[in-house]
Amino acid sequence: NWDMGSFIANAIEEIRTKVGDKQVLCGLSGGVDSAVAAVLIHKAIGDQLVCVFVNNGLLRKGEAEMVLKLFRDNYKIRLQYANAEEAFLSALAGVSEPEAKRKIIGKVFIDTFYSEARKAGEISFLAQGTLYPDVIESKSPSGGPSATIKSHHNVGGLPEDLKWDLLEPLRELFKDEVRALGRELGLPEVLVTRHPFPGPGLGVRCVGEVTKERLDTLRDVDAIFIDEIRKAGLYHDIWQALACLLPVKSVGVQGDERTYEEVCSLRAVTSEDAMTADWFRFPADVLQRAASRICNEVSGVNRVLYDITSKPPGTIEWE
Ligand code: XMP
Repeated sequence: NWDMGSFIANAIEEIRTKVGDKQVLCGLSGGVDSAVAAVLIHKAIGDQLVCVFVNNGLLRKGEAEMVLKLFRDNYKIRLQYANAEEAFLSALAGVSEPEAKRKIIGKVFIDTFYSEARKAGEISFLAQGTLYPDVIESKSPSGGPSATIKSHHNVGGLPEDLKWDLLEPLRELFKDEVRALGRELGLPEVLVTRHPFPGPGLGVRCVGEVTKERLDTLRDVDAIFIDEIRKAGLYHDIWQALACLLPVKSVGVQGDERTYEEVCSLRAVTSEDAMTADWFRFPADVLQRAASRICNEVSGVNRVLYDITSKPPGTIEWE
């Protein structure tokens, strides 16, 4: 069986041998794979690692703060923080079509990431949290000469002036093993067991137009939904739970007033691999508490739907 102690010792040895006295750049996403890769590499080479964290303005509530606190303050990893919210939001202004949104988000991400990388000095390696299933899926040549950014960002090769080799210390591991490794390296349980979150973030959950105001509303809705799921002890029974803000308004009555506000949809699914999924059967009282808190606590929302579409025919995300 898999022996973690010897995996870590071997990985550290391999990273040191490969990297020598060169510098490694690692993008942090807030997810478990990049976090584990970064902490493992940091254990091996310390300050030869520079991490970049791009805030695209499409993150969940408190996520940027969590990442900064954990990696900068706790692990003392060199971390460049790019708050690019404005660049993303202005590029997304007026765009509603899902694939157009993804393209824009991918492009602004890459531009921001490369410009941060150029500030980081002489970099020789790009570290990625590629796992074994990603390797199989993409059949990518092992550590080829020109690195590419993980496929969901839809980019080809690197620009001319950035010549990086890939460093992928997790490429032989399955997700469960990455989680176990994360725990061993002291990463908090909330991060290690986090539900998947798409690269384009809340951009594809703000159905229709993406604005700062709608994102803030959605962040509040999402936080309440996840909080109620955790309080009910159901977080780990669910593959992924998400909230979407719909481009629909509905009439409601709150207090003595008629309101005309936005509608949100909650979705939770069970799945093995995200290829197929079934909607999660919540106890009614959990949905009731979430819905009532959302309408009471989030201004701008007056109606809550629960999505009972399986995949197929629906996808997990709405866009
Ligand atoms: P769908 O919505 O296609 O999603 O059923 C399957 C899984 O993939 C995630 N997802 C994405 N992840 N970039 C990503 O990194 C994307 O553009 C993207 N779209 C969907 C989704 O959250 C689910 O876990």
